[in-house]
Amino acid sequence: MQVVTDIPSLKNIIEEKKQKGLRIGFVPTMGFLHEGHLSLMRTAKAENDFMVVSIFVNPLQFGAGEDYEEYPRDLERDTKMAGSTGCDLIFSPSVKEMYPPGYATFVQVERLTEGLCGASRPGHFLGVTTVVGKLFNLVCPDRAYFGQKDAQQAFVLQKMVQDLNMNLEVIVLPTVREPDGLAMSSRNKYLSPEQRQEAVVIYKSLIEAEEQIRKGEREAGIIKENIAELISKARHARLDYVEIVDSKELYSVPIIKGRCLIAVAVKFGKTRLIDNVLVEV
Ligand code: PAF
Repeated sequence: MQVVTDIPSLKNIIEEKKQKGLRIGFVPTMGFLHEGHLSLMRTAKAENDFMVVSIFVNPLQFGAGEDYEEYPRDLERDTKMAGSTGCDLIFSPSVKEMYPPGYATFVQVERLTEGLCGASRPGHFLGVTTVVGKLFNLVCPDRAYFGQKDAQQAFVLQKMVQDLNMNLEVIVLPTVREPDGLAMSSRNKYLSPEQRQEAVVIYKSLIEAEEQIRKGEREAGIIKENIAELISKARHARLDYVEIVDSKELYSVPIIKGRCLIAVAVKFGKTRLIDNVLVEV
């Protein structure tokens, strides 16, 4: 496995692989890898001839006062973990390599980025689409892999690929969970032992929502109230949002019909966690 930090070296390797006709699978990450990332990598490896992982904590997608500085970084650990999945190439650029002085170009997906995390974190998705757009141009993947935990991100990136006629497939794989149900996230590391215990309430509230829907409840307002109430019982939890949206345009729905996404963001102290389930009735 090679690790490259500069764009010219990455381009040379990619060009060579493309000339040989190899299919490239790509997993973009911000590092501090966990089992969720590794499951994306294993699938990317199995479905392609050459697997590339990027590790880049992208300053553009963090707002003022967010955790850009504190975001956990450990390239040595990540390199070993990615290597264990059969990763062929890690691209780990500096901020200057990605955004040299004078950088002025941004990718914006409208509408889909307005609600949910887009409302709580203004500018976040502009940062995500810009960096992922750049990475797609550099890595030229045939397939790129993302986790369902970041459901809105996956929708937004699929839209970007469609609207900009990018020549790749975006593949979304199921959320990987801790044994108690908490969705895996690099940010789980910030939780105190007490917060960590309480954080399972996020998944429990979503499971209960699914159960209510299975039993026939269709009023989105009632389901959302129940989720909010359950979460409010955890002493350290502060609900950021609970939303039920359609699975195409991410518009808030009053009645659950067809395929809907139930999405939640909860803060434990300064740590913001997200999770979601897709339901179909
Ligand atoms: O999901 C992430 O880790 C990031 O948002 C991504 C897609 C790597 C872009 O920085």
